[in-house]
Amino acid sequence: MEAELRGYADVVAHDLREPITGIAHLVTLLERGAGAPADPEALALLRASTERARELIDGVLVYARAGELRREPVALGQLMDEVATDLRPSLEAAGATLEVAELPAVEGDARQLRRLLQNLVGNAVKFHGEAPPRVEVSAPQGPEDWVVTVRDNGLGVAHDDVERIFGMFARARGEAEGTSIGLAVCRRVVEAHGGRIWVEQPEDGGSAFRFTLPR
Ligand SMILES: Nc1ncnc2c1ncn2[C@@H]1O[C@H](COP(=O)(O)OP(=O)(O)OP(=O)(O)O)[C@@H](O)[C@H]1O
Ligand SMILES: [Mg+2]
Repeated sequence: MEAELRGYADVVAHDLREPITGIAHLVTLLERGAGAPADPEALALLRASTERARELIDGVLVYARAGELRREPVALGQLMDEVATDLRPSLEAAGATLEVAELPAVEGDARQLRRLLQNLVGNAVKFHGEAPPRVEVSAPQGPEDWVVTVRDNGLGVAHDDVERIFGMFARARGEAEGTSIGLAVCRRVVEAHGGRIWVEQPEDGGSAFRFTLPR
């Protein structure tokens, strides 16, 4: 894990350099106009760059802590209700429907598991296609594990990306939005719970993100 984090440090340092260079440049501009009221556009850019830097830092901290667990009995159905409430504004904005089947109670870390569901459902809404997003969450019982599935009708994941997207900063299709730490955190959370996570490409389109949790 240490070696892994050290590897990410390089990537983070690299990604942080960009907003911080922008910030330094904008501050120089503002200094030159000392005394005059600051250009609102420069201030807006400054704010955007600082937010981007903060997001990167927060993301890495979340990732680094995602392996620490506090185990307790957790009703996944209740977590899912909370996630649906938190995501309601983006679900409504996208005209999305969310269908949740009966979900089991498991032994795990409620905060981490909520983060996991939040990112998977959030992604299913964010990476939608032409049709309004339709997201289905279910958890059929496997022989040894629960297999939780978050199925969407969105853009789908290209064959070449199915492994890569679970790494840090592995954005597919070159989207600009997001920090692309979400699925790396999901993988860490699932693995810390003794499960595994992967994505399937259903024949009728969209994607199905699936993870196991021991029963
Ligand atoms: N449901 C999905 N449908 C299609 N592509 C997806 C889906 N979920 C994830 N992806 C692809 O995998 C990439 C990584 O997802 P991840 O959640 O790690 O990052 P993000 O959502 O871009 O940013 P963050 O979650 O850190 O805000 C996404 O940028 C997207 O290209
Ligand atoms: Mg995400």
